[in-house]
Amino acid sequence: MRIIIGCDHGGYRLKLDIIKHLTERGIEVTDVGCDDEKSCDYPVYSAKVTEGITEGKADLGILVCGTGIGMCMSANKKSGIRAALCHDTFSAKATREHNDANILCLGARVIGPGLALMVVDTFVDTPFSQDERHIRRISMYS
Ligand code: RB5
Repeated sequence: MRIIIGCDHGGYRLKLDIIKHLTERGIEVTDVGCDDEKSCDYPVYSAKVTEGITEGKADLGILVCGTGIGMCMSANKKSGIRAALCHDTFSAKATREHNDANILCLGARVIGPGLALMVVDTFVDTPFSQDERHIRRISMYS
């Protein structure tokens, strides 16, 4: 499993927690920035993560900003991206099983680090169901 992760200033601290957690689990993590809490533009970093996914450099992506909303909106503009904003484990599991989501978006001003890491683990550990009805519905997205 290879994860690519990016953030803006609002998500920087939570991103560090996620990288530490995933690395301790033995998961390969590529961090595309940002690299501090100085104000920056989140679409720059969502584009780096979506490119990593569409170019096959990572299996799943994680994007963290203040709310997770801007990251999710900008990521979903890109072809082949299915980004999901999840702040609970039910949604994280369902979006992998039903939507084959390839990017998890998190809002660091919405969720605490304890639950965020559980959401990350659920997202990373849940496979797509491969059910025909879900494949059909996903094919109808574009
Ligand atoms: C930055 O202040 C904030 O707008 C950003 O982190 C994110 O929440 C946007 O959706």
